[in-house]
Amino acid sequence: MNQPRHVAIIMDGNGRWAKARRHGRVYGHIRGAKVAKSVIEECARIKVPFLTLFAFSTENWFRPIEEVSFLMHLLQRQLRRERATLMRNNIRFQVIGDVERMPEGVQDIVRETIEVTRSNSGMILTFALSYGGRQEVTMMAQEVARRVAAGDLKASEVDEATVASLLPTSFLPDPDLIIRTSGERRISNFFLWQSAYSEIEFVETPWPDFSTADLHHALARFGLRERRFGRTSEQLRLP
Ligand code: FPP
Repeated sequence: MNQPRHVAIIMDGNGRWAKARRHGRVYGHIRGAKVAKSVIEECARIKVPFLTLFAFSTENWFRPIEEVSFLMHLLQRQLRRERATLMRNNIRFQVIGDVERMPEGVQDIVRETIEVTRSNSGMILTFALSYGGRQEVTMMAQEVARRVAAGDLKASEVDEATVASLLPTSFLPDPDLIIRTSGERRISNFFLWQSAYSEIEFVETPWPDFSTADLHHALARFGLRERRFGRTSEQLRLP
């Protein structure tokens, strides 16, 4: 069965899950962080080469200040606590997004975690933090314009490979499978360029209830899909 090389997850539904249980939204995030840990460990165990988690979007900054502060605190705490988990599972940590917008404490722990896990040779775990697809495409366009203005690049030479190489995801293959939990069927400014041929699994389960069994169901459904990349089934069967 086909296994995805790169799995990316939009972890949605923490707030609604907590509200349905008459708790504050942050309770859902605490539970969500536990689920993230178990999904990370399971992906490492079954040797998924690349896992990306959409942990905080450029739009999430507009949430109530208390919730944003709590998410920053949670990120900082979890990264500090789970460093041993990353080492034990041979996971290399990376980030994409406007990390400089995060509080100093988060930036420090992010830098340290990248550094400490640098030599790990197993799964590459990428956190998308303060990440937005439109933002990274805008930054890439600015860089292309700068290079063309400086005479380092000809406009006619800009191709898909140039664009991909100037995005912060240049170290990642495009995601084969994107999972979004909690029943919403949209991409929400995640991996706009990279998702061109991703298979997308929208699952009803809210993130705090997402189990490793749900992960395996999503992987099994992915394995049954025929990926044609614009071609026909008959062409795919040709040697
Ligand atoms: C979406 O649920 C979740 C987030 C905006 C934050 C994701 C954060 C975590 C899972 C916890 C921290 C993670 C790690 C890995 C340390 P939502 O709040 O949008 O839910 P709603 O759609 O029900 O409001």
